[in-house]
Amino acid sequence: MVRVLVPRECCPGETRVAATPETVKRLVAKGCRLSVERGAGHPSGYGDDAYRDAGAELVEAKGAGADHWSRADVVMAVQGAALVRGRPEVSSLPAGAVLLGLLEPHGNDALKQQLEGLQLTALALELLPRISRAQAMDVLSSQANIAGYKAVLLASAALDRYVPMLMTAAGTIQPARALILGAGVAGLQALATARRLGAVVYVSDVRAAAKEQVESLGGRFIDPPELEQKPGETGGYAQQASEAFLAEQRRQLTEQLALADMVICTAQVPGRPAPRLIDDAMLQHMRPGSVVVDLAVAQGGNCEGSEPGTTVWRHGVQLIGADALPCTVANHASALYARNLAALLEHLITVPAEPDTGALLQLDLEDPIVAGCLFSHHAQPAPVAVGGVA
Ligand code: NAI
Repeated sequence: MVRVLVPRECCPGETRVAATPETVKRLVAKGCRLSVERGAGHPSGYGDDAYRDAGAELVEAKGAGADHWSRADVVMAVQGAALVRGRPEVSSLPAGAVLLGLLEPHGNDALKQQLEGLQLTALALELLPRISRAQAMDVLSSQANIAGYKAVLLASAALDRYVPMLMTAAGTIQPARALILGAGVAGLQALATARRLGAVVYVSDVRAAAKEQVESLGGRFIDPPELEQKPGETGGYAQQASEAFLAEQRRQLTEQLALADMVICTAQVPGRPAPRLIDDAMLQHMRPGSVVVDLAVAQGGNCEGSEPGTTVWRHGVQLIGADALPCTVANHASALYARNLAALLEHLITVPAEPDTGALLQLDLEDPIVAGCLFSHHAQPAPVAVGGVA
């Protein structure tokens, strides 16, 4: 039997939860035993009773009833790094327990050492390989999709104009013009959402494959500058661009920005600062009243002057530093995140043929999914089965 703990999130502003009643039911059917801390699902609209009805045991987050940590084989979290920093109970997890969550793994040696000191195995969802087999587990995609959608809604609400073309008795209103920087998961969803609202949408990306994807969604692709130093590509990700390339890109985008009503910034390079695609001088050429939503703000931002979690005005342009948009769509963001996590856990467990034996946790270090996102590892005593029946 694999004992899974779903704690309350402790990161300020985090409203999502790592398991929903739907995924609890799914994992219980696979032979897992789920313990959910009371109130874990409240911020995202999932009540304690629903978890109980789905087959979870409700446990107290604090006090005498909080010894469920010492019995857990797996902890499912959204903000895993914050959990390690903020919940002292993590130190009572048994050696070899497995933490699944977002771990901010890039360059985070301090957390890695802390996890190793605690003898915990941790899988960082940010490192999950972008392969077909792992698509159902891909939290970066499910959450970026939500961010791209919500960014356009925010921009539309903040804009001092209509988005669609309108023909009225008082004359015709031209459709708003949107510029999207980066055509990854968030950018393509932003494009689709802006098109649904009736905007004319231009999209810039440095990857050649993005052009066809943008055009298939009705966007107009802005080809990257034809320079020798054009950034390469690994595994579908753009590599970091040189400063000369970015300077040329900014020159190219200045004209587009001057025509744009809303700009959605999604350009990123994993583990690196976000490319700076809009500088202060470019903002000065934008129409006062236009809106920039910077989804890359936590990585330094695509737009100069954007600040995480807040809106600032520069030269009459609103800069919305949107670092946590999935948390504003907490119910569906949790539903998708929880399904991603359930798919990953199902991948890690084997269900023996005998009905009452319960599931076994097995980490195959050769498996590309496990190897890809393994952040810290503490081996289990052989056989590789955790808790209860081996
Ligand atoms: P991301 O969030 O790392 O970056 C967003 C976008 O920014 C990327 O399209 C990137 O090319 C672009 N970008 C980087 N530097 C730029 C610059 N200087 N100017 C303009 N754009 C710039 O990417 P995300 O959304 O995580 O997707 C990365 C890739 O992974 C995409 O090719 C996507 O299609 C692919 N993918 C594959 C999956 C699978 O096969 N299972 C699942 C999800 C995504």
